[in-house]
Formats: sequence, structure tokens, C-alpha cells
Amino acid sequence: MVKVITYGTFDLFHEGHYKILQRAKALGDYLIVGVTTEEYDQARGKLNVVDSLITRIENVKKTGFADEIIVEESQGQKFSDIKKYNIDIFTVGSDWIGTFDYLQEYCKVVYLDRTKNISSTMLRTKETPIQRIGIIGTGRIANRFMPEAALVSGVNTQCVYNPHFESAAVFAKKWGIDACREIEEFFQASDIIYIASPHETHYSYIKQSLEHGKHVLCEKPMCLRKEQAQELFEYAKKKKRILFEGIKTAYCPGFTKLLGIACSGVIGNIRSLEACFTKLEDKKSRELMDTRFGGSFTELGSYCLLPILKIFGHDYEEIRFEMIKDGKGIDLYTKAHLRYANGLATATCGLGVKSEGKLVISGTTGYIVVEAPWWKTSYFEVHHENPNEVERLSERFLGDGLRYEVSDLLSMINGDTRKNFKLTRGDSETMAGIMEQFLAQRKAQ
Ligand code: CTP
Repeated sequence: MVKVITYGTFDLFHEGHYKILQRAKALGDYLIVGVTTEEYDQARGKLNVVDSLITRIENVKKTGFADEIIVEESQGQKFSDIKKYNIDIFTVGSDWIGTFDYLQEYCKVVYLDRTKNISSTMLRTKETPIQRIGIIGTGRIANRFMPEAALVSGVNTQCVYNPHFESAAVFAKKWGIDACREIEEFFQASDIIYIASPHETHYSYIKQSLEHGKHVLCEKPMCLRKEQAQELFEYAKKKKRILFEGIKTAYCPGFTKLLGIACSGVIGNIRSLEACFTKLEDKKSRELMDTRFGGSFTELGSYCLLPILKIFGHDYEEIRFEMIKDGKGIDLYTKAHLRYANGLATATCGLGVKSEGKLVISGTTGYIVVEAPWWKTSYFEVHHENPNEVERLSERFLGDGLRYEVSDLLSMINGDTRKNFKLTRGDSETMAGIMEQFLAQRKAQ
């Protein structure tokens, strides 16, 4: 019996998929089809898959060509599958020519002609029109955003706005997009507004964007007052638009995996969490010059609060802040202590004090440790009482990680609400409330 194996995502099942399965089956007597998991696709940079794994498996099944369907979860699995299932022929479409030649040592490798003029990417684009992104702000993060957004199919960054037109013009030239002099013109040319301007301008830009019927992706901290966050989310709901806070950690696959493991009981009941993020900044930077909204906690607090709120929730019993301020009253180093009914958490942020940036989640039977840059989660360890018993887990983290949030935002805009859990409205509102309390205390002290 000749055993054949092929792999694919098979998203929005189309004629090209049908034909390749038909021809793969014809190469032998028994066909195994490997269908990729959502996590694997994300990890290899294939963002925006529409159909769930179950739907994609069902569609492959319906063709009647597959004798067996398996799930492809990780890189390197092809090699072990070939051994495990005693495969004679490995086949994929001609778009992969050369990529799998290394498997020739173990079985025959056949590249079948790809069906012309059809692909899942084409169908995704057809079903859901390209969303035009307009950027407000031209700083560091906006520059990081550009190459990342370019990797997500289904969006196109179109234009930029900055009240200082010169800055917009320089940015636009650098990235080959349009600079808008008037904000009205800018709104006309965009479907999604990415707000990467100074913190205190977020509220007004979000409001204006929603007024113009635009979806919004806003850099953290989205709001510095709880009431404002609540008002904006209500308004977005009324306008049937997505309002999305860009805390990239929340959307990266490694962080989702970390939360899943932490909450699985593997370290018992979680009792403590310590998150620390420090980044030394130039004394002349906006972060250390802006006496009203600059400082370490407004800058980095969102990252540290994220795992705390995801694990312990929004109902803390007490929060208190300790800080070291400079002569202007800006916090160079801040510790926020949160007390919950069942646990304690600390968020430590520094722009003028350097510390070991770690995330440690402690439970009744063990702890999880994620070294810096834990906010770009790619590797973590699970420890128990016996120091020799360490479980090491990893997940790919590509580029700057902003691609994951853009991809999730796009899925939400296209009606897929499955990813809402990663950063909820409640999470953003609670964070805004904490920022508000922090700023009040900083001012009063
Ligand atoms: N395939 C094909 N002809 C097409 C499209 C895909 O023969 N027109 C083959 C691929 O070469 C692969 C299998 O179908 O062997 C599954 O491919 P998949 O990546 O799931 O489909 P695409 O349509 O290429 O998806 P995407 O656009 O997301 O890359």
C-alpha cells in the first residue's frame, strides 16, 4: 500500500484545495491530510485565518479523498509524521517547490501544480474589503507599526496625520504613504484609526474617530480616567465600531499560552504575581519631561498590569503606589501593590531606575518565571519544590509583535469575536481607573 501525506491550512475551502487533495490521493492508496492549528499558523506568521480548525477539518473530510486527517501543530512535525505513519510520498503544491526537498531522504517528495487564480488569501480579500489604516502620531511606536502592519493581509496603511504637518510629511515620505494636512481629509481616507500620539490626546482622538464612524486601535494607556474609558466604549458600541487598546503583549501567542498554563492548576492556586518592566530613558525624552502625563507608570504600567488583571481579575480590594520622583515630580520608579481576596500582586515600572525585568507567578505548588522581555513572551519556565523538576515552554514571537494585535483587530472588525477575551473592555476600563488613581496620588504627594 502506497501511503501519501499532504498538509495545509485549507481556510475558506476552495477549488485549489479540492484539486490538490484529489491529485494527492491519486498518487497512492491511502491519503493522510494534516490540517494546521490556528496557533501554528499564527506562529509561522500566517495571520487572519478565518475558519476554525473544526470547520477546516470538516471541509477536508467532505471531499472524501482523505483516509485519515491529522492536526499539524508545530514545525518539524512533518518529519516525525513521515516516520510515524510510514509514509511513501510527501506532496504539496508547487508554491512550495524546493522547501521540502530535505524530506527526500525519508520518502518521495512530489510538488503538484497549483491551481491558478485562486487562494485563501484572495478569497479573504474578496469577502472582506481591505481596511485602510490612518495613523495619528509619528513617533517611535508609529515607526515600528508600519512594517508590522504591512505583514497582515487585509489592511493597508494609507495616510498619517500630525498637527505638526512637517512631521507628518517626513513620516509619510519615509513610508511611502500620504500626509494629511486636514484631519477631515485624514478621516475620509481611513477605515481604522491607529492612535500613537501622546497619552493625553487619546481621548479626544478616539472620540473624533468614532464620531466619523471609524474603528480605533489606540496605543496604551488608552485612557487616564475610568469614566472616559467607559464613555468611549459605550460610544463605540452605539456606533457599532471596534475600540481596541493596543497592548501588544495581550495578543502575542506566547502570552496566551502562558495564561493558559498558569490557570491550568499546574502551580496550584495562584497567590502572587510580580511584574517588572524598566527601560532607561533619556532625561530629555517626552517620558521624562512631561510633568503631567510622563513618568514610568503611565509609560509602562499597562504592560505590568496586564498579567495581574488577566490572572486576578478586576476586583482588587486595595491598591497603593510607592514611587521615587525626580525634582519635577515625575516618577522615575513606581511600585503598584494590589491586594486581592486570594492574592497579592506588584507592578514595578522604571524609566530612571534599572531592575531585572521579570514576571513571576507564584502558586501553592510552584511558580512560573518569565525573564525579560516577558512582555514579548516567547519562553517561560514552570518550577516546583524540587529544583530539578523544571518544565520549559516556548512559543514563537515574530518581529515587534504588533502584527498580532493588528491581525486580531482585523478579525474583530470582520465579525469574529473569538479573540475578544485577550483584552476585554473591563480590562481596559480597570487599567484606566488605576492610571487615574496613580496620577491623583502622584500629584498629591
Ligand atoms: N493549493 C493549490 N492551489 C491553490 C491554492 C492552494 O494547489 N490555488 C494547495 C497548496 O499548494 C497546498 C494546499 O493547497 O499544498 C493547501 O494550501 P493552503 O495554504 O491551505 O491554501 P492557500 O489558498 O494557498 O492559502 P493562503 O492564500 O492562505 O496561503
